[in-house]
Amino acid sequence: MRKDRNRWESRYGREIPDFDDPDPLLCEQMKLLTSGIALDLASGFGANSLFVAESDYTVHALDISFNALSALNKEARQRGLDVSCVVADLDEYPLPKAYYDLVLVFYFYTKPLMNPIQDCLKRGGLLFYATYNFHHTSVKPEFNPAYLLPRGGLSPFFPKLEIILDEPEAGPNRNVSRFIGRKA
Ligand SMILES: C[S@@+](CC[C@H](N)C(=O)[O-])C[C@H]1O[C@@H](n2cnc3c(N)ncnc32)[C@H](O)[C@@H]1O
Repeated sequence: MRKDRNRWESRYGREIPDFDDPDPLLCEQMKLLTSGIALDLASGFGANSLFVAESDYTVHALDISFNALSALNKEARQRGLDVSCVVADLDEYPLPKAYYDLVLVFYFYTKPLMNPIQDCLKRGGLLFYATYNFHHTSVKPEFNPAYLLPRGGLSPFFPKLEIILDEPEAGPNRNVSRFIGRKA
């Protein structure tokens, strides 16, 4: 895991953040957003955190990268937004149960986290999720298949959620799976 952390740290140390580039799924479906406490898992620089904080959520942004979160923290303070940043390794960090009104997961997948993700939502809470699936190796052959969703998309992982949107093979290369669900 240290290797993974170092890789992301050096990447975020080099990159210039684009804080104004939230994921299209959030922009397309922003009518679903209300207010409350949101969790942005593996937030990176946190364009999605800022977007939902601007839509009235209190946001917890969680990532393994200190570089990414210190940039996000500075930006959120400058904008006067309620974003708390937590540097944590999600392989070890326990998520609270029935706590969040909104959970965002974009381009991060590890199977053991799928149950805790649905369990950390409150009743009525929303999950927005988009990530690469098994088709992605035809676009980027060097991508580690361990981080790619298997066939079937995201909905089979979230039996406790009512499906609002389920697109197992979205995008021109069919290499992105997108899902929005609500805790019943
Ligand atoms: C592809 S980026 C996605 C970032 C952001 N969600 C987005 O869509 O722009 C994957 C993120 O996962 C984070 N990450 C990787 N392994 C992690 C771990 N074990 N715990 C927490 N974050 C991790 C990286 O630091 C990186 O920010």
